[in-house]
Amino acid sequence: MARRTIVTGSASGIGRATADLLRARGEQVTGVDLRDAEVRADLGTRAGRRDALESLAAAHPGAGVDSVVACAGIAAQRPATVAVNYFGTTALLAGLRPLLARGTDPRAALVASITVTSALDEAIVAACLDGDEERAVARAAEAAPHEIYPSSKGALARWVRRTCLAPGWADAGIPLNAVGPGVVRTPMTGGLFADPAMKAVMDEAIPMPLNGYAGPEAVAAALAWLTSPENTHVTGQLLFVDGGAEVALRGEGPR
Ligand SMILES: NC(=O)c1ccc[n+]([C@@H]2O[C@H](COP(=O)([O-])OP(=O)(O)OC[C@H]3O[C@@H](n4cnc5c(N)ncnc54)[C@H](O)[C@@H]3O)[C@@H](O)[C@H]2O)c1
Repeated sequence: MARRTIVTGSASGIGRATADLLRARGEQVTGVDLRDAEVRADLGTRAGRRDALESLAAAHPGAGVDSVVACAGIAAQRPATVAVNYFGTTALLAGLRPLLARGTDPRAALVASITVTSALDEAIVAACLDGDEERAVARAAEAAPHEIYPSSKGALARWVRRTCLAPGWADAGIPLNAVGPGVVRTPMTGGLFADPAMKAVMDEAIPMPLNGYAGPEAVAAALAWLTSPENTHVTGQLLFVDGGAEVALRGEGPR
C-alpha cells in the first residue's frame, strides 16, 4: 500500500520539491498550503490550523498517515513570521500525531534553517516554547526585525529536541527531526539574488563551500530519507543541508 504522506508548503520551493519526490516514489501525498494544494489553509492562524487538521483527519480515516513533512514558512521580518513558522508548524505536527500513531512506520520532519546559528531573541524563543503565541508575537513586534526569523527557527529546533522523547513520539516509534537548509534557490530567496547588495550580505553570512547554493531537491532528498521507513534510529536531530555553512561558521566543536 502506498505511503500516505502530508506535506505543508507543498505549492512552492522545498515543499513542492518534496511532494514531487515522494509522489515519484509512489507515495500518496496530501499537500497543505495557502493555494494550489489538496488542503488549502492559512497555518498562520488558529482557525486555519484547526480547519487544516479537520480536513486532514477526514481525508485519512482508519489507517491514519505514515509521514508528515512540515515545510510551510515565511521569511518576512515581521511578527507574523513567528505565527506561521513556529506555531503553524508545531500545532500541525502535534495535531497530526494521533494520525501518525495509527500509521505504518510513522515519521515526521520539519524545516528549520542555518540561521539558527545566528543571534536569536531568547524572549521570542522562550515564549514559543511556552506555547504562548500572543506573547511570542508581541515580543517579535519589539525585537530586532532581523532576529525574528532565526528565532522562529531556533525555537523549532529546540521544540524538536524537547518533543522527540515526549510521550507519544519515541515510545510510539515516531522519529521527529529537522533539516537546516543553507541558501536554497526558491521563490523565498528570489529577491535576495536579484539585489547585489543583499546577495553580498547573504554570501558573507552563509558561506557554502560545498557546491554553493542548493536546489530545493537537495533538501527534499534529506526530508524524504528522514521520513522514510529506513530511518529507524535518528530522532531529535537538526540535519544541516547547507554546503558546509554550519561548519564554516561554528568550526570544529566542541561536540
Ligand atoms: N529558501 C531558503 O533558502 C531556505 C533556507 C532555510 C530554510 N528555509 C525554509 O524552508 C521552508 C520552505 O521555504 P521555501 O524556500 O521553499 O519557500 P517558498 O516561499 O518557495 O515556499 C513556502 C511555501 O509555504 C507556504 N506558506 C507560507 N505561509 C503559509 C501559511 N500561512 N499557511 C500555509 N502555507 C503557507 C507558501 O504558500 C509556499 O508555498 C520554509 O520554512 C523556509 O523558512 C528556506
